[in-house]
Amino acid sequence: MASAQTDSSELPKVLIGVIGGSGLYDLDNLTFVTKVNPDTPWGHPSSPITIARLAQDVHVAFIARHGIGHVHSPSSVPARANIAALKSLGVKAIIAFSAVGSLREEIAPGDFIIPNQIIDRTKGIRPSTFFDDDACVVAHASFGDPFANKLLKWLAPKVKEALEGRNVKLHTEKTVICMEGPQFSTRAESKMYRMWGGDIINMSVLPEAKLAREAEISYALVATSTDYDAWREDEESVTAAEVFKILKTNADTSRHVAAHILEELHAVVEAGEVLSEVEGSMKFSIMRDPL
Ligand code: ADE
Repeated sequence: MASAQTDSSELPKVLIGVIGGSGLYDLDNLTFVTKVNPDTPWGHPSSPITIARLAQDVHVAFIARHGIGHVHSPSSVPARANIAALKSLGVKAIIAFSAVGSLREEIAPGDFIIPNQIIDRTKGIRPSTFFDDDACVVAHASFGDPFANKLLKWLAPKVKEALEGRNVKLHTEKTVICMEGPQFSTRAESKMYRMWGGDIINMSVLPEAKLAREAEISYALVATSTDYDAWREDEESVTAAEVFKILKTNADTSRHVAAHILEELHAVVEAGEVLSEVEGSMKFSIMRDPL
């Protein structure tokens, strides 16, 4: 996908956003339309957003979470700007990709995971809400099911279908631990996360998932396993070099998965079939004096 800038009045309707994680800085099988770099009240997104055409009247918006050249660490990703920018384009559903470590023997490097729960181990240093003091509105989004259930239900068989013949396993209904970083976990932490019920670990699903919920955008994570973190007794603990080794393979598979699912996803989003639980949900989340 090449680059350009276009007037926002010429932008096509975009319902689907894709956020690429480490290694995934672009998508395949798309016709480049334009790049936009919206200036939101929370600043610019991590990277200019590529808008590309999948088919007649079917467009997707792509952001590289860590920026072009991987310039944003997980702790400094401008997540509010990313979600606000996608919202401003009309995006209703986001498929986010992220590299993760595995906390379970059966989840091997190279496997794909669609989690349905999150444990927050970020340390409060990431702006995690649109409803802060500047907004002058207090709101508590419902987050018991942090991913959009209908979207997950639709996504799992489609991703499985896309992975057929590739010798890549898909795991569903897993719990992702989101840690602060930038250092990886200690062995003691890694073992503790297993005891807590964590299955995979990353540094990026939050605050993205929280902000998508506040923006009433259906959000799902497609996680790609790169390593076994630090819990295995007789194995070296994870290093960045180990993660890098498998990033390219995982990114190639992610591009294939995206190419397989996006057009159909657009159709079900447009038909409103995977959205109903989050659309309109914030209307019940605003705190007002009941008297
Ligand atoms: N991303 C990829 N592997 C990871 C790990 N082991 N811990 C945290 N984030 C990761």
